[in-house]
Amino acid sequence: MSKKEQPGLRPINVGLLGIGIVGGGTFAVLSRNQEEIERRAGCAIMMRMVADKELEKARRIVGGRASVTGDANELVNSPDIDIVVELIGGTATAKDLILKAIANGKHIVTANKALLAQHGNEIFAAAQKKDVMVAFEAAVGGGIPIIKSLREGLSANRIEWIAGIINGTSNYVLSEMRDKGASFAEALQRAQRLGYAEADPTFDIEGIDAAHKLTIMAAIGFGIPMQFKSCYTEGISRLTQEDIRYAEEMGYRIKLLGITKRKAQGIELRVHPTLVPARRLLANVEGVMNGILVKGDAVGQTMYYGAGAGAEPTASAVVADLVDVARTLTADPEHRVPHLAFQPDRLSSIPILPMGEVETAYYLRMRVLDKPGVLADITRILAELRISIDAMMQKEPQEGEDQVDIIMLTHLTREKNVDAAITRIEGLPVVIGKITRIRLEQLS
Ligand code: HSE
Repeated sequence: MSKKEQPGLRPINVGLLGIGIVGGGTFAVLSRNQEEIERRAGCAIMMRMVADKELEKARRIVGGRASVTGDANELVNSPDIDIVVELIGGTATAKDLILKAIANGKHIVTANKALLAQHGNEIFAAAQKKDVMVAFEAAVGGGIPIIKSLREGLSANRIEWIAGIINGTSNYVLSEMRDKGASFAEALQRAQRLGYAEADPTFDIEGIDAAHKLTIMAAIGFGIPMQFKSCYTEGISRLTQEDIRYAEEMGYRIKLLGITKRKAQGIELRVHPTLVPARRLLANVEGVMNGILVKGDAVGQTMYYGAGAGAEPTASAVVADLVDVARTLTADPEHRVPHLAFQPDRLSSIPILPMGEVETAYYLRMRVLDKPGVLADITRILAELRISIDAMMQKEPQEGEDQVDIIMLTHLTREKNVDAAITRIEGLPVVIGKITRIRLEQLS
């Protein structure tokens, strides 16, 4: 008898690819909350098979409650498995296994943001052809139900923008730099000692992980295909103590934000360090926590906060997806929530704007000779490029020095105008070295 005719009777059989930190958490949450989950899903959700290269470790965690194999292909080809949970990460093997599982008619639950941001369009198209679901709540914001909120809870709204702290490691580093006066290198070492940052922290620190997550949110927020390659990505490795201090003196905190905005000419899609007014809730998301602000035309701003990583917080999202998939097995495929929130044949081809066309405000720090006329030269260039100054601060010169730091905050302007202004100001003989430019968002 088919599932459609007998909803809720047959247990749903799950296969798990990769029993690392999140896989272990998923196994634990699913076992511990079995009864509660069954009451919600209307059927039992059973972890039947686990595939992991480290067989001994996998057997220890599973403790005889599921079969264990070292061959992931055995799992994706098994006729007994309904849903494949992919938690191995990476884009090569994971993609291959997911496409095989889809070809075999299995539903997918994955936390793999890199894979979806880069190959999601192909994966969703394959899934649609086979009438299977690909669920990915755990790919963005760990345990925060942001995908569900964007895709379903806010579906009455025209989403205007999304701005989020979506990488806990870099947020921890920035919090340590601000709270404890640590240098970037010291804060990163602490993050590595505590196990937050990977041994190779490039993905976290250089904004790539955040860009993957932002790409996914933009797709479901605006109903556009995944366009990771068009995402502007700048990390936090060049931020200094002095910028964090100056920002604070002017009432701002620096956060690594993923920002996506709908504009008349296209979509802004960008990850970079950003000054945020210190009084905003988002500026107060500290340590490894994540926070995402979404602006919808009807609801206004809503904010989502929680653990963006970790075994059980991420497992919370994985298991919620399992429940969702189990429930929708009884729905006709055309009545399911579409992968990217919008009907696949109604995705928009609105372009991603090049960075030069992005409109935002700026923090500019420059070191100049402390003599008459310097400020006039600088402000003339800004005026010629129609860049309006919002606030300015000049620091006292150090004893015996003839150089000072000038910090300017601009009003909204186009990035290409600021690029031109920076080039011209750096060319002035009274300006020493390079100008530091950090983008600024009021989020109001
Ligand atoms: N490495 C990520 C972070 C968690 O630091 O937030 C997984 O996406």
